[in-house]
Formats: sequence, structure tokens, C-alpha cells
Amino acid sequence: MTAEYQVHGDVAVITLNNPPVNGLGLSTRRGITAGLEKAEADAAVKSIVITGAGKAFSGGADIREFGKPEALAEPNLLSVILAVEATTKPVIAAMHSVAMGGGLELALGCHYRIAAPGCSVALPEVKLGLIPGAGGTQRLPRVLGVEAALNMIVSGEPVKSELLASVPGQKLFDKLAKAPESLAEEALAFAKEMAVKHADGSALPLVRNLPCKHPKGDAYFQFARNMVKGMAKNFPAPAKCVDAVEAATKQKFDQGMVTEREIFINLMWTPECRSLRHLFMAERAASKIPDVPSDTKQRDIKSVAVIGAGTMGGGIAMNFLNAGIPVKILEMKQEAIDKGLGIIKKNYEAQVKKGKLKQDKYDQRMSLLTTTLSYDDLKEADLVIEAVFEEIGVKEAVFKELDRVMKPGAILASNTSTLDVDKIASFTKRPQDVVGLHFFSPANVMKLLEVVRGKETAKDVMATVMTVSKKIRKTAVVSGVCDGFIGNRMIEQYGRQGGFLLDEGCTPAQVDKAMEKFGMAMGPFRMGDLAGNDIGWAIRKRRYEEKPDMKYSKTADLLCEKGRFGQKTGAGWYDYVPGKRDAIPNAEVVAMIEEHRKAMGITPRKISDEEIVQRLVFSLVNEAAHILEEGIANKASDIDVVYIFGYGFPIHRGGPLQYADEVGLFNVVQAMKRFAKNPLDDGKFWEPAPLLARLVAEGKTFNG
Ligand code: NAI
Repeated sequence: MTAEYQVHGDVAVITLNNPPVNGLGLSTRRGITAGLEKAEADAAVKSIVITGAGKAFSGGADIREFGKPEALAEPNLLSVILAVEATTKPVIAAMHSVAMGGGLELALGCHYRIAAPGCSVALPEVKLGLIPGAGGTQRLPRVLGVEAALNMIVSGEPVKSELLASVPGQKLFDKLAKAPESLAEEALAFAKEMAVKHADGSALPLVRNLPCKHPKGDAYFQFARNMVKGMAKNFPAPAKCVDAVEAATKQKFDQGMVTEREIFINLMWTPECRSLRHLFMAERAASKIPDVPSDTKQRDIKSVAVIGAGTMGGGIAMNFLNAGIPVKILEMKQEAIDKGLGIIKKNYEAQVKKGKLKQDKYDQRMSLLTTTLSYDDLKEADLVIEAVFEEIGVKEAVFKELDRVMKPGAILASNTSTLDVDKIASFTKRPQDVVGLHFFSPANVMKLLEVVRGKETAKDVMATVMTVSKKIRKTAVVSGVCDGFIGNRMIEQYGRQGGFLLDEGCTPAQVDKAMEKFGMAMGPFRMGDLAGNDIGWAIRKRRYEEKPDMKYSKTADLLCEKGRFGQKTGAGWYDYVPGKRDAIPNAEVVAMIEEHRKAMGITPRKISDEEIVQRLVFSLVNEAAHILEEGIANKASDIDVVYIFGYGFPIHRGGPLQYADEVGLFNVVQAMKRFAKNPLDDGKFWEPAPLLARLVAEGKTFNG
């Protein structure tokens, strides 16, 4: 059992001990109830303290139990809390560090609570598309007041114990300990005091018996609903938090608990909740590489060098400076250094101006940054990341120089977005030390990092860069070597479908609107304008040579021939006013598409939003299935993570493969078969990838 029982004088102490955060898994729940029974049976015990070992009181549900039968096995958390409430000796929660979700609900079931300062208190269930399910919505308003409690439940955000203790009239904490170090001792003393207080047999206080009212009643809840509606349009849970807290004010406690339970169970079955839970697990799973054990000895990364101070180099450097790691940037000319440095400074200064960065932090970060024009100055760096022009000849020259100067054991990384990492590795005599680190633009903002594993990349290099990515707060996903890696290889098919849709009758604005309604941060044409249409043009020119049979719409080439590269030229699929990002539809572009249609002899047809969404999203899905089968991605959930964190795919849909699972893979394949019959589309592409066909035949899903 992962809860320990000890008796100190006449106080029994139940210590949750289930690292890392004392999750309330079955064995911990059993430990608590066993401890309570022992304490009840021992006449020498007069009161009981429940606390947590190590880094938390309790972080709530044990995520390792998600989806497993143990999660529901008795005693479940509701039963444990009932057992705590029913104990005839005072039970005191001694809370420190982290008291979240089920952990806080357990504490609210105790007769008394003492907290250490600095304890993070939260009911974060809403972040998984749920509401608290073990009385949190019924008990927190009773001790904190309706408004403060609803705010915590709807936001899911942690609040420090000392702040909560200062809420007028709060009954969440009976006592705030002087310091985290003295909590254990103060909790024992407080428990003894409570034993004396109740020695006369007086009733033990229960949160359930406290009144729960809001003076403005209905008006307040209406107001709260309106606020929540604007905030969380794609998610049902926040509005349901309001319903549950309203029930706490209008129903008897036990009835309120039934209402909470019903809402909780209904939410559990929504696709939004499934998506959020999927992503929660997927993000954690992404850092695990099947054949790289978690105890692999890692290399020490204390300093970093960046080659090239352009768009990507500057942003990459900022990530390390933000994490307190010294960076040296190498450029070819002093002017390029000055320009790159100027942009980094401007970025930081904007953050200082907005109050997001303190001046001393800014100074500290800039003091970690040095520059050079000489490779010999880089030799001591533990990790070097190349971000020079995307030309194999330039990469060859750079990697030969790096091979010459870098100390043995240094990791040599390339930020290439399209080139063959194995080929780049072959320019050195140490291919085992070479890896791709594909950052996304703007590199200091975007969370995604594709870690490209070459065929010779050493396991300790992989383990090290995954750890480094955490330090610089990126979500890293491993990709094998292929053209475009995971994300850009898929987006190429998506872009191709976008082109066919224009040929067949859509306008860019119609396609973008449909995709944005689906939830994409940006439709494909607005995205093209942001990234630069010339990038796709260069790739297509290469494809026309490599794969002459591959079918493309010519509209994007016609657009580029007009110099309409997107936001950077003030004109792309849309027009842009300098300094603004609003996309203004352009009549000439629409006319250009119509003329091209005419020239191809196509009669335009009305295309529904549903068809637009399906063709674009399922094109991602089919390509993803090839990527999975080829082993370029380790697991389906990695692909979802790439699309959520790198391409603005809607979080409530859980990623393209999670979405396909929700639609049903049988239905996805049926749609593909329909699309394949369209003579204006690429019928060959719509042949379901073998893996997808197999999953359908076996009645399985991508994400299991
Ligand atoms: P950029 O043109 O903005 O910057 C390249 C910089 O490298 C320039 O400042 C140039 O002076 C410097 N440089 C060129 N040759 C050099 C050499 N031999 N030694 C030292 N410095 C040299 O290019 P950008 O956009 O930053 O791209 C860099 C790399 O990042 C490319 O491989 C690109 O494919 C990749 N990438 C670009 C993304 C983007 O959105 N721009 C996204 C992800 C990857």
C-alpha cells in the first residue's frame, strides 16, 4: 500500500507515499482507509493527521490508472472521503507543496485543514474537459465563497495557500503553518488540540454542513455563464462547472453531490474530454522513445553554439538564454551578427515594455549571449545547432568545419526543414553525434520541436536532446528521416487538397472559413500567406522534377508568379495593410482562380464546408498512416502532438488521428473512396494507406 501509518504519541499520521505527487491510485486509497480503521480501533489514538511524503500533499488522481479498471475499483475517492467524514476522531489534513484535484477534495472531506505557505491549491479537472468529481464543486464554495470557488473551478488554475488564507471569511484552512518545514510539527500540535477540544464528544465539523448561498443568486450565475461562454466556446466543461456550483447553492448537499456526479459522468463521454485526456497523455508519452531506456546516461549540456543569426538562429538562441544556458552565435559577417542581435534585443525589449520580462532578467539573459566570426571559438560548446541557408552545399561546409573544431562528445544538430539529416551526418566523421532539431517559426514562441533521429544517431544523443528540449520548454516529438519529417510531409498533402478545392469551385476565403470554423487556428491559405508562399513554390518545383506524375493545382504557382508571397510582400492569397495581419480578400486573386478554372475547362460546383474539412483533414490522416507504417513516427499520438503544438490543429479535436478515431475509421475510408472517384482530385492519393485499411479491417483505431 502506498500510504504509511505511524503513531506519534496519541496522534496517528497517515502519509501518502506514491511518488511523484502522491496520486490517489487504488493502493493509496486502500492505504488511507486501512489507516483510518487502525486509528479508529486504537484507543490510544485521539486524532489523525493525513499528509503527503516528498513533493506533494497530493496531486489528485493517479494518471497511471487512467482508463484502467483500478481507477473505478473500491474504495473509490468518494468512498474514501465518506470514510474520512465518518471517522469519530478528528481528522486533520496537513497540506503542503501541491494539493490538487482529488487531493484537495480529500482535504475538504477532513474535519480540519492546516496548510504550509506556498502550497499550490487547485481543482484542475476542467483542463481535462471534466468537473471535479469527488465533491469539489459542492465543498469548495462552502469554505471559500461561491465566487472565489467558481473562479478556481472554471479556470483550473492553482492559487497559493497564503493567498487563499487571506480571503475574508474563508474556512478552507483552519490554520496556516509558519513555514513548510514546521508543518509536520504544527500539524501534530493542532491535532492534539482538536482531540482535547472534542474530548467532550462534541460533533466534528464537516464542510458538507456549512451553508452555501450567493446573495445575488440567479443573476450572478447568469453573469458567470455569459463570461464562461465567451471564454470556452469549444468546450462544454466550463459551463458545466457553473451548473455544478449553482447546484451547491440550490440543492441539499447530498442532492448536489448527485448532480455533480451526473455532470461528471456525462462529460467523461464527450469527444472534447476524450481529446483533452488523450493530449494530456500524448504529450507525456512523446518524450519516451521505445528503444532508449529512461536511465540512459546523458551528456552534459552547459553551453550552446548557434550557427546563423537569421530568422531561426535568433529565436533558437533565445530559447536557451531564457533557460539560463550560455549561447555563442557564429555568423559570416559582423553586419549579420549586428542584425541578428538587434532582433533578439528588440524581442526582449518588447517583453520588458509589456511587463512580461523584468529588466534585470533581460540584462541577465543578454549577458549569457556572445558572438563570433570564428569557428575556433565554438569548440568548447556542448551542443551546436546549425541554422544557415537551406542548401546542402552550405550545410556541408558548416558541418565539415564543426567536425574539425568541436570537442569530442559535442552534439551537432541541424535545424534543416527539408534536407536529409543522414546526408548531413555523413559530412562528419562522427555521424553518431549528429541529430536534427527542427524548430518551428517563431522559434522562441512555438512549442513544437521535431527531433530528427538519423540512422546513426546515438541513443545517448537522443536521450540528451529530449531532456534539453524540456529545459527550453519545448514539446519534443521524435521523427525519422524523410522529406518534410512528420509535420511538413503531412502539410504538403493538405496544401495539395487546398489547391484542388480552388480548381473545383472554392475561393481561398471559403476554404479558410470552413477550416477555421472546424477550429484550425488558421485556414490553409492564411497560413500560406504567413509562412510565405514562395517556400511551397520552391518545394513544388523540386517535386515537378522528382515526381513528375504527382498532380498539383497550378493556382499557387500562378500566385507566386505575380510575386504574391504573402504577408512579407503585403500580398498573397489576400491583401495586407502594412503592420497588420488581417487578411483582406482580393478580387484579382479570385479572378485569377476563375480564369485558370476556365482554361482547364472546369465548371465550378458548390462545395460544402463538410467536404472541405473532410478532404483537408483526411489528407493529413492518410499521409499520417503512411508515416506511422514506415516508422517515421513512433506512435499515432506523436503525430497528434505535432499537429496540435506546431500547426494550430484544434485542441478540442485532439489531433488529426484522434479526430479520425472519433469520426470512425470506417467512415474515414468510405469518404476517401468517394474522393478517389473525383476526376479533378488525385485518385491515387486517396487509396487508403495499408495501415489505415488494416485498422478498419480489424475494427481498431489509431490511438487504441
Ligand atoms: P535565414 O536566411 O533567415 O538565416 C540564415 C542565416 O545564416 C543568415 O543570417 C546567414 O547570414 C547565415 N549563414 C548562411 N551561411 C552561413 C555560414 N556558412 N556560416 C554562418 N552563417 C551562415 O534562414 P532561416 O529562415 O533562419 O533558416 C535557417 C534554417 O532553418 C534553414 O535550414 C531552414 O530550412 C530552417 N528552418 C526555417 C524555418 C522558417 O520558418 N524560416 C522553419 C524551420 C526550419
